[in-house]
Amino acid sequence: MTTEEKVSKTLPELGVTETQGVEALFAEVRAAMEGERAELISRGAPASHHERVCKALRDRWLARKNGLLARLDEHWLKAAPRELKPAVGKCFNELRRASAALELKELIRTVPVLPESPGTRPPDAARHESLQESLPFEIPGDVAQDLTLPGYRRPLGTLHPITRVQREIEDIFLGLGFWIENGPEIESVYYNFDALNIPESHPSRDDWDTLYINAQTVLRTHTSPVQIRAMEKYGAPLHIIIPGKCYRHDNPDSTHSPMFHQIEGLAIDTDITFADLKGTLDFFAKKFFGEKVRTRFQPSFFPFTEPSGEVAISCIFCGGEGCRVCKESGWIEVMGCGMVHPVVLRNGGIDPDKYSGWAFGLGVDRFAMLKYDINDIQLFFQSDVRFLEQF
Ligand code: DAH
Repeated sequence: MTTEEKVSKTLPELGVTETQGVEALFAEVRAAMEGERAELISRGAPASHHERVCKALRDRWLARKNGLLARLDEHWLKAAPRELKPAVGKCFNELRRASAALELKELIRTVPVLPESPGTRPPDAARHESLQESLPFEIPGDVAQDLTLPGYRRPLGTLHPITRVQREIEDIFLGLGFWIENGPEIESVYYNFDALNIPESHPSRDDWDTLYINAQTVLRTHTSPVQIRAMEKYGAPLHIIIPGKCYRHDNPDSTHSPMFHQIEGLAIDTDITFADLKGTLDFFAKKFFGEKVRTRFQPSFFPFTEPSGEVAISCIFCGGEGCRVCKESGWIEVMGCGMVHPVVLRNGGIDPDKYSGWAFGLGVDRFAMLKYDINDIQLFFQSDVRFLEQF
């Protein structure tokens, strides 16, 4: 017989006719009451259901109308045969005193609040069911399934601005028939320097510039070593771009970061000339920065290209008039480029008498800063959502 069933019967109906029986009966009810309370305390209740669950237990026992104690008062105490009244009265008072622990305030204080984890929160109905299963008393379902409560909103992420710019550049070159090649960030001194015709004495090899893992291994300082790897792997002709992370022994400031991103371009074929290089990079600059942009090629030096060039675009902020960003020159330097040095082709296993090529290297972070008018490279790597949310 459940507690409910018992409290709906009178003592004689329950076959209780003496003091001992009364005490045993009350002990049973008290054990049930304390058991339910202990059960709830051991389980705890999720924040969103906490008060409701506590109130359900409180009401079950203490509700003025129809609570178990009220029914017990009605059927056991008021209806008790005269000779049992003193014993029933005494037991009832003890039970009532013990029931103070089921007052709502008390339960709210003692029942642990379980954290609500939005990611694992099952739909309300299922949750209500599992919660109900675990409890010996009923929780009002209408409240547990309140459909007017707002749903759980999971914030959508966005692509990182560096990723966006990298993909945008990739798309332009994919459209020209280039494909994307990758290489290791931990690179040998051979691929990072030697094979690229960078002499032993070159300052970039210094350990104030390059992060060495050991004497033969570095964190690659540029994406150029993948030129050699790709030549060895595929031979000529070759039209590739190489995006990726690079590392240098630089202190972080608004324009430097020890980790940054480059995209390398490499075209090798028969009869490739400087005109191909100029045409391609001019097309690329216009696609990326806008049709109005002009390009300027100035002589420069890199050990792996001959001749080498520095590409500038007309200032995208002032249109070439001169402003703070272009330091009044009207031009912004955006990448290095050149005709692949015959030694480099040979190091990659390609015959420089048969093939020629051009190459370029650009900083993705710098392109992103120009495109979005960002003045501090560190913003890209600080994971501040107030910054990242804007993209
Ligand atoms: N590797 C050079 C750097 O990190 C950039 C570069 C310049 C790459 C000219 C090239 C090139 O392929 O032709 O500064």
